[in-house]
Amino acid sequence: MIFSNDYSGRRVLVTGHTGFKGSWLSSWLLHLGAELCGLSLDIPSTPSNFEVLGLEKRMRHHLCDVRDIRRMAEIIKEFRPEIVFHLAAQPLVRRSYADPLTTFTTNTIGTLNVLECIRHEESIRAAVIVTSDKCYRNSEWIWGYRENDILGGEDPYSASKGCAELVAFSYMNSYFKLQTNGPLVATARAGNVIGGGDWAEDRIVPDCMKSWAKGTTVSVRNPKSTRPWQHVMEPLSGYLKLGSELWKRSPGISGSSYNFGPDATVNHSVVTLIKALSSYWPNAKYSIEPQVRSDKPEAQLLKLCCDKALAELKWSAVLSFQETVKLTGDWYHQFLTFPGTDMNDFTMKQIEAYCTCARNKDLGWAGDE
Ligand SMILES: NC(=O)c1ccc[n+]([C@@H]2O[C@H](COP(=O)([O-])OP(=O)(O)OC[C@H]3O[C@@H](n4cnc5c(N)ncnc54)[C@H](O)[C@@H]3O)[C@@H](O)[C@H]2O)c1
Repeated sequence: MIFSNDYSGRRVLVTGHTGFKGSWLSSWLLHLGAELCGLSLDIPSTPSNFEVLGLEKRMRHHLCDVRDIRRMAEIIKEFRPEIVFHLAAQPLVRRSYADPLTTFTTNTIGTLNVLECIRHEESIRAAVIVTSDKCYRNSEWIWGYRENDILGGEDPYSASKGCAELVAFSYMNSYFKLQTNGPLVATARAGNVIGGGDWAEDRIVPDCMKSWAKGTTVSVRNPKSTRPWQHVMEPLSGYLKLGSELWKRSPGISGSSYNFGPDATVNHSVVTLIKALSSYWPNAKYSIEPQVRSDKPEAQLLKLCCDKALAELKWSAVLSFQETVKLTGDWYHQFLTFPGTDMNDFTMKQIEAYCTCARNKDLGWAGDE
């Protein structure tokens, strides 16, 4: 199994383990044989992928606010992780307009607190800090953003992730150096992900699935916005690869940032995604909301250049747009149409199929067994 040599028997801490990406990452790490501890504010949705996958019984599960550094430090001291994946965040742009204070304190100060805990816990050797493609100053241009492009972000969510990058950069420069014995850290920037088990508010795939399962019409805003839609397993394979290179103390990786996005041809509009997903639901209906100029805009055109991940980590995305949509549609269809399915088993099969696909396509990172 790819990555099992890197993670089997390792003590790994995942923040945000109850969320969409965190629950997939936790399942994957358990499958690889890691000893796992998770730390999250809450269980953020109903249904919840964390609950559907039965993760609470298979890992150490703590409800803890990353803004509470004292409590977080206690949990870390007790568990003594070797590797950390920091995903906990307020991840929604629209909610960030309504509550910028929570967004900045969670995403920026929360990241600062995590880095400070990492600095003081000597068991930790490697950490991946997850931010977002929205950390870049968005010029609405057609080119992919590179890791050395200007950071920015106009809405509070994007700015909070840009700030988290700056905080991490300062810590990486000041404390986490290859020359010392301490932990090595890098940041990871990925864009919109889709996949089974996302139930967050205000995201197009969960909105479609909730409506179509009830037989109602989903209403679509910003139909022409294009996004580098990728399956959740794509950035997660990047995070796992990055974590393992940090763990091995590979030169040049620490103190860096990496984009993890799909192939450039996978940039599609919201409406193209909905049409593709609707093929899984015979009576799927959607309506386009009239385009109104919002005073709370969201980025329309966002693309990442992933050449650095390819050159330094041998990482590239695996799935075509069609494969991404199929994995997503199949998962929701199974869950919503056949209650009682063992979704953990179903999810593991998707992870194994993804790894097989990576091996068959002869991708560099998939050769590391
Ligand atoms: N989903 C996407 O399309 C996407 C795209 C780019 C980046 N990201 C980033 O990936 C990470 C995970 O996103 P997701 O989609 O899984 O989000 P999610 O909303 O599904 O999960 C968020 C997680 O963070 C936890 N959390 C929130 N506030 C917290 C706090 N104050 N203290 C501790 N935990 C807290 C929640 O309990 C939950 O476990 C986030 O950092 C997000 O910004 C996500």
